[in-house]
Formats: sequence, structure tokens, C-alpha cells
Amino acid sequence: MIQFDRHRRLRTTPALRDLVRENRVTRDDLIMPVFIVEDLKGKREISSMPGVYQFGLDTILSEIKAITELGIKAIILFGLPSHKDDVGTGAWADDGIVQQATRKIKAAYPDLIIIADTCLCEYTSTGHCGVVDENGYVLNDESLKLIVKTAVSQTKAGADIIAPSNAMDGFVAAIRQGLDEAGFVNTPIMSYAVKYASSFYGPFRDAANSAPEFGDRKSYQMDPANRLDALREVASDEKEGADMVMVKPSMAFGDIMRDVREQTLLPLVAYNVSGEYSMVKAAAANGWIDEAKIVDEILTGMKRAGADLIITYFAKDVAARLVK
Ligand code: PBG
Repeated sequence: MIQFDRHRRLRTTPALRDLVRENRVTRDDLIMPVFIVEDLKGKREISSMPGVYQFGLDTILSEIKAITELGIKAIILFGLPSHKDDVGTGAWADDGIVQQATRKIKAAYPDLIIIADTCLCEYTSTGHCGVVDENGYVLNDESLKLIVKTAVSQTKAGADIIAPSNAMDGFVAAIRQGLDEAGFVNTPIMSYAVKYASSFYGPFRDAANSAPEFGDRKSYQMDPANRLDALREVASDEKEGADMVMVKPSMAFGDIMRDVREQTLLPLVAYNVSGEYSMVKAAAANGWIDEAKIVDEILTGMKRAGADLIITYFAKDVAARLVK
């Protein structure tokens, strides 16, 4: 008799396969990105992201209603101001678009968790995530001051979680201090700790009107070729007081997700970014792939890699399937 293992025993029927499934995505894991536009009436589809819309203040509550009815518990809010300037004043204005939207959503849906993406690139005329000097260099410490003001202003408006994404060194320490001094000791920071300078953000820059006017983000976001750099970023953010850490993008970075999972005890967030969404949509529109099955496989893969939470433009679609 030859000896071998019968792995197929546990794969015999659907019920048995369900019983031994190791990873699954639940509605509790999903965070839906929402784009709010200051001078927009109604809603507008993003051409490079079919099925994803920008909303005006007049239509935002109907979208939030749909999201909450699907059982999604958290959104991440991105704002597009009607006016940009050198330093991104609109990001921390009390009547800034994210602040207005946050107050409006909180009043109607107090239980929904509002995560504020805390960055300047949508608000600066340069399209960079901080203040730029005469050589086109994004200044770290000067930009930190502005990101702190933004975080405090967003929290005052009602944001439940601050998610800094501008990739300056020390942003977690600076924001933690700023929030504590303003009395918000209980507001968590979800750090975009591992944020690569990725071409997968292309469609987002249409959605958020935030492409850099010159140069690129490579002096502040990470080189996709690097792994140890990611682990250093996580170590720093953890030391500085981050409550959750993120890896972004996700599909080409499963190894990093796993490495970060092994390194930290903090909740880990995967960002399934715009380009990853658009690729799936384009292939599905051509009839080349089964969209629902592919999306489930991609998101389950992120859970398997170690993610606890997933920010994804597919959140509503996935939640709708899970409701059944
Ligand atoms: C802001 C920000 C970006 C994304 C999230 N926050 C763009 C960037 O860094 O250029 C990208 C999200 C996506 O592609 O879905 N800095």
C-alpha cells in the first residue's frame, strides 16, 4: 500500500467546505470610501471608476442611507473643495467640505463611523500632500503643522477616526499630541503607515482631483521595491501612538500585509485602491472575468494575508451579497 494524505476529504461537499473555511469577509470588515464635492449638485459618476460617484451635500444623505442599510458600519470621507491654495486652507477650515459633510452625516446617522482621510493634496494648488518649497520639495515639519490643524478640525466636526495619509514623517506623533491637547484623547488614529508611491492610485486622482501639478510623490511615499522600509514605518507609527495601521495598495502587496501582520498587534487595514477597482471593472465589462467571484477572492486574499479591515470601493456590492 502506498502512503499519502487525503486532503480532498475535507473538500467533498459545499457544507464541509464551509465548515473548514479559514477566512471570510464580513460586513463588519468593510469600509466604504465616499467622495464629497463642495460645488456639486446631485451626483456624478467617476469616469475611470464606473459605479463610484462623487456626491454633493444635497445628495450625500441618500448615499449614506444606502450604505448603512447594507449593514456597513464605517465610511472614509474624501473632500473636494471649490477653492485650492498653496497651503490647502480648505482642509482645516471649519466650514470646509469634509467638516460640513461630517456634521450633516453625524446629525442624521450618529452610529455610522466616519473616518476622515487627513491629507492636503485635494486642497493644495500644487496637488502635493504638503507645503512645497521653491525647489519643489515637500517640507516635512511645516506640513505636519497643517495636517494637525486638519485632524483637529475634522474631529471637532464629528469625525470618529483620523486617517492621516500625507506620508510625512512624524504625522502620528504630531496628530496624537494635537488631538490630546484639543481634548480628543479618545479619537483613534488609523495611520496610512505603509503607503507606497503607487501607479494604482491613478483613478483616485480623477475622483479626488488631486494629481500633483509637477513631479511625483516619491520623496514622501514609499518605493514599491522596498519591504524593510515598510516594517520601519510600522515600527515608528506604533511607537508614535497609532491605533491601527494600513497597508496600501493591497493586491500586489500581500507579502507586506503578511509581514506587517507578524510584526504588529494593532488592527491591520488593507486599502483595495482605485486602480485595483478599475482593473476589475474593466475586465468584467469586457466579459472576461466574473466580477463578484473575483472581488470575493481578492478581498478574502487580503484577510488571509492578515488584514482585519478592508477599505474598498466594492464595499456596497459585497455587503449586498452578504445580506442575502
Ligand atoms: C491622499 C490619498 C490618496 C489615496 C488615498 N488618500 C492618493 C494619493 O496618495 O495620491 C489613494 C486611494 C486610491 O487610489 O483609491 N493622499
